[in-house]
Amino acid sequence: MTRRPGALPCWLALFLALGGASGCIETPAVMSPASRGAGEILWLTWIITAIAVFVFVVVAGLLLYCAFRFRAGPDAPIPRQVASNVPLEIAWTAIPALVLIGVLILTVRTVREVIRPEDAAAATMHVRVIGHQWWWEFQYLDQQVTTANEAHVPVGETIELQLESDNVIHSFWVPRLFGKTDVIPGHHNHLYLHTDEAGVYRGQCAEFCGIQHANMRLLVVADPPDRFAAWVQAQKAAAHTPIDQQAQNGQRIFLESTCSGCHTVQGTSAQGTVGPDLTHVASRAEIAAGALPFSAANLERWLIDPQAVKPGADMPDLHLDGDTISALVAYLAQLE
Ligand code: CUA
Repeated sequence: MTRRPGALPCWLALFLALGGASGCIETPAVMSPASRGAGEILWLTWIITAIAVFVFVVVAGLLLYCAFRFRAGPDAPIPRQVASNVPLEIAWTAIPALVLIGVLILTVRTVREVIRPEDAAAATMHVRVIGHQWWWEFQYLDQQVTTANEAHVPVGETIELQLESDNVIHSFWVPRLFGKTDVIPGHHNHLYLHTDEAGVYRGQCAEFCGIQHANMRLLVVADPPDRFAAWVQAQKAAAHTPIDQQAQNGQRIFLESTCSGCHTVQGTSAQGTVGPDLTHVASRAEIAAGALPFSAANLERWLIDPQAVKPGADMPDLHLDGDTISALVAYLAQLE
């Protein structure tokens, strides 16, 4: 039995379907929106893709038809030479212009749907998002909570995000929740975030901002309202007082060394604001803006040589000995 040429696309489709079903091929985040705004952006993406595919098929089809129909044969006469054709030239100028005007109208419509005036009125929470090199600071203005790289939000509420930068241009992007929005020094951009789907959403700086641009990641955790309230209560509380001896040593080292000059731990004398607030660092899923998952082993790795994990980051190599690192890890790991 001979295999028909048409079978290849079928095998390819089957392979992709099986791959997708077995988790080999992940659905890109932008294709599974979890908010109305992200859904609108995906809708526009599909419409523009459909228009682009249609234009490509028509143009490539005409090109192939002409190449085949008027191809040179052994005895083919020289075809009639055409110097100009005014109606044709008007047509191929007007048709792309009309297509682009159509795309412009759809884009403006989508922008107006994504950023609606009523969202500003509906916002029940306001969060300052500050892009640092290379991490994100979240200041919850209504709750008086400050955290880094992991923002919790309540599902079902509209949250205003006020985007600021104290250095270079970044771009705040959580593909499943909203489109890229520039974070510009000296300029305040706003975003309105609303989702009805609880979950953890990966975000990423989307504007090249220096050597660790790729490690300027974040998580948005959308919690049901009661879980969000519990999170706020936990974040507002002062840091845990260490109980065991090693963690107490770690705290003493932390407060007496340069750590406290750059980091804040609420309830202690550490009030530095250069690096992330560490009051509840152990409640977060990652360290160094997504460079490593949070674990004692990774904290140790980070403290042994931060520049090996995240070259260029402000966190210096402190040349700490093994005992000091173990004590600091014991202290930090209990800051839940
Ligand atoms: Cu910040 Cu790229």
